[in-house]
Amino acid sequence: MSATVVDHPLAGHLLLALRDEATPPALFRNLTERLTTVLMLAATKDLPTVEKTVKTPIEEATGRILAGPIVIVPILRAGLGMLEAVVELFPEVRVGYLGLERDEATFKPSAYYAKLPQMADAVTFVLDPMLATGGSANAALTAVKKSGAKEVRMVSVVSAPEGVEALEQAHPDVPVFTASIDRELNSNAYIMPGLGDFGDRLFGTDA
Ligand code: PRP
Ligand code: URA
Repeated sequence: MSATVVDHPLAGHLLLALRDEATPPALFRNLTERLTTVLMLAATKDLPTVEKTVKTPIEEATGRILAGPIVIVPILRAGLGMLEAVVELFPEVRVGYLGLERDEATFKPSAYYAKLPQMADAVTFVLDPMLATGGSANAALTAVKKSGAKEVRMVSVVSAPEGVEALEQAHPDVPVFTASIDRELNSNAYIMPGLGDFGDRLFGTDA
């Protein structure tokens, strides 16, 4: 596995606003969507294409179109914040869902929902804004591969070195695209400096 930190001025700009504890949920959602667009442009940069010729009103023009289908699998709940941005970019995308919740004491994820489309013929992107211990991403990647996904990429907003390392061990074939690899995890397995609990901030459930 390789981790790519998406190095774009807009990514840094949006990420810092997401980190800001003063950012309210409505703005947090908007920033998440915009940052997901930037991350997805990087994560799809090398998608296979095929040549196609069309007729313009003037003459023929040859270009390249995407060769195959795309699947996205947002991890509930927080991954839902990344969904719309990808659907905007790739309206034909197939969408699967995985519900995973991290236990507050053990930090281990437990699965509560799964609905996955056909993935064998597609490039599959697993979306989860926080890659902390890597437990949730690891479980999601195992699940999509078990369901037939062949080429899989992971897209996260903020990652911890511990999570990146864990995925490197468990899924060396899956590249990770992220806006930042932060310093480390704290004793509650939260990313430092991070941005807090992404799901709570996205859905306003932290009060
Ligand atoms: C958060 C986050 C990831 C997971 C990351 O989800 O969205 O799924 O924690 O932590 P990990 O890398 O240590 O597994 P959470 O379990 O809080 O659920 P939520 O999205 O419903 O808030
Ligand atoms: N989940 C989050 O939402 N934030 C973290 O820092 C770690 C896990």
